[in-house]
Amino acid sequence: MHAASARDLNTLRLREFAFGEEDFQALRVLVKSLTGIHLSDQKRELVYGRLTRRLRALQLRTFAEYRERLKGDSQELAELCNAITTNLTSFFREPHHFQYLRDRVLGPLAQRGGAHRLRIWSAGCSTGEEPYSIAMTVLETLPDAARRDVRILATDLDSEVLQRAQRGIYPAERTANLSPERLQRFFTARQEAGGLCRQITPEAAALVTFKQLNLIHTLPMRGPLDAIFCRNVVIYFDKDTQRELFARIARLQRPGDLLFLGHSESLFKVCDSYALIGKTIHRRI
Ligand SMILES: C[S@@+](CC[C@H](N)C(=O)[O-])C[C@H]1O[C@@H](n2cnc3c(N)ncnc32)[C@H](O)[C@@H]1O
Repeated sequence: MHAASARDLNTLRLREFAFGEEDFQALRVLVKSLTGIHLSDQKRELVYGRLTRRLRALQLRTFAEYRERLKGDSQELAELCNAITTNLTSFFREPHHFQYLRDRVLGPLAQRGGAHRLRIWSAGCSTGEEPYSIAMTVLETLPDAARRDVRILATDLDSEVLQRAQRGIYPAERTANLSPERLQRFFTARQEAGGLCRQITPEAAALVTFKQLNLIHTLPMRGPLDAIFCRNVVIYFDKDTQRELFARIARLQRPGDLLFLGHSESLFKVCDSYALIGKTIHRRI
């Protein structure tokens, strides 16, 4: 028997939903074309695990039926994207980036005084912890930010995480790493069905604009963008997709503007428009 079909039979017997090699390959191609996310061979179980709730919700029995269902169904294609994306994030993740922003960008602006246009983009903002951490850093350094021309744009492909980001309400345990001063200044406590939650204040929320944006599509913003946080997003893309994306991102920045990447990401052999000036901190050349 052919190796792949032997594996198919095996998986058919063990699983709640029939999931063969053909299903994985077809979904892998579809996901890449929709999101840029590259699913390696090791991601079979992840794909199965994340999509089973969609099959249950649609009362389907096999992944072949699910693939059929996806054809021309934009709503279900969006659900597929939401299910496949990895949304792990936290407040002040990789804290040295926020320190750098405070010391090298916001601090000098505070000293200078007066209005100054400042645009920061959180690309792949997930549930909002990253843009709200930027907003807190801005307000700590520029308390009069509302009167200056400071805006934070926060985008993600995943419509579900964006809705949660916009609500700005977090279970208390997700804010546990924040100092008492930050909790006091930037959150209000509220009791939700699931227990104690904290909601970001209108002052911090007002600095952030959320928009749905797929990074593999045209970037509609005009720029220039003083700082871009594109962290822990391109780790899921292959090198060609990364090259194509950073070529477009570089066009939105002027020499001296900043690009922050995630801890395991790099522009090496990807984009030579930036100089590495710190741990995963890049300056547009
Ligand atoms: C692991 S989270 C990183 C969140 C945050 N930047 C951080 O570092 O904590 C990756 C985010 O990238 C988003 N993403 C993945 N592919 C995307 C694409 N093609 N366009 C826009 N966002 C995408 C996912 O939906 C997810 O919310």
